[in-house]
Amino acid sequence: MKSFRKIAVITGATSGLGWEFAIQINNNYKLDEIWIIGRRKKRLEKLAKKLKNSKAVQITADLSKDTGLAKISSRLKTHSPDVVFLVNNAGMSKSGNFSELSLDEIKQIMDVNIRAVAQITHFTLPYMKEGSSILQVASIVGFFPFAGAALYSASKAFVLSLSCSLQRELYDKKIHCIAVCPGPVSTEFIKVSSRGKFKQFKQFSRAYGADDVVATALKDSRKKRLISIHGYMVKIIPVLIRIFPRKWLMFLFYKGRNSRAFKK
Ligand SMILES: NC(=O)c1ccc[n+]([C@@H]2O[C@H](COP(=O)([O-])OP(=O)(O)OC[C@H]3O[C@@H](n4cnc5c(N)ncnc54)[C@H](OP(=O)(O)O)[C@@H]3O)[C@@H](O)[C@H]2O)c1
Repeated sequence: MKSFRKIAVITGATSGLGWEFAIQINNNYKLDEIWIIGRRKKRLEKLAKKLKNSKAVQITADLSKDTGLAKISSRLKTHSPDVVFLVNNAGMSKSGNFSELSLDEIKQIMDVNIRAVAQITHFTLPYMKEGSSILQVASIVGFFPFAGAALYSASKAFVLSLSCSLQRELYDKKIHCIAVCPGPVSTEFIKVSSRGKFKQFKQFSRAYGADDVVATALKDSRKKRLISIHGYMVKIIPVLIRIFPRKWLMFLFYKGRNSRAFKK
């Protein structure tokens, strides 16, 4: 039998920003269910215990695989819920220049950061009504080619572009889509992507808290903004890109990245 439970769907909920989205949506909105998605089952169980206001539905899924995506789409078909929030947050990277990535890593990054975002958005949209929100987690590096993380920044440029187009396409349906473009955030992301080369302390001392980034994203989504950027030092980047030659900035960012966060 079909029901119309009000739900949130959050990918990459096992850590960092996704975990924080689940907590803040649970605390601030009255929903029947929050679908939390990620590969690590134990983390999903831990998060589920913290979500007291809404029922946590744990979906263990690898979003780089068709089977993982099918788990979400078939659950939507079976339950036909009213999706109030879709947070496409899962994402990954691998450090190093493009030529250093393995073919498998290229596939993983493109599958999780691009294909999953497009497909999940596409098959979730029929379950979204007027007043609902899509938050697409891109990155500030989606604004410019970030040498040293070439494929990652290209994948986030995709998310940023898709999100902005969707904001317009969905306007008449009164479904809001926002691109969330964080700068450095203190999560597991850099550690996972750096293959142990990361100088953790220096980078984290400059990073923003996931709680603040998510609070800004949800606030900006309520205000129907096109893009959410937390922190003045990050907000300035799209401005610099408009003022200075792209080549100079790419040089500076590449130099900064190699000297600060990663050591070969
Ligand atoms: N941290 C930053 O500095 C920063 C800056 C800008 C943008 N972002 C973006 O913010 C988003 C969240 O990242 P984060 O900082 O919170 O990093 P994180 O702590 O590493 O979290 C990444 C999340 O993505 C999930 N994920 C990765 N690969 C997956 C796969 N194949 N299938 C399913 N889930 C997968 C992980 O879950 P499992 O491992 O359990 O599957 C995890 O929950 C990403 O899209 C990232 O690109 C991060």
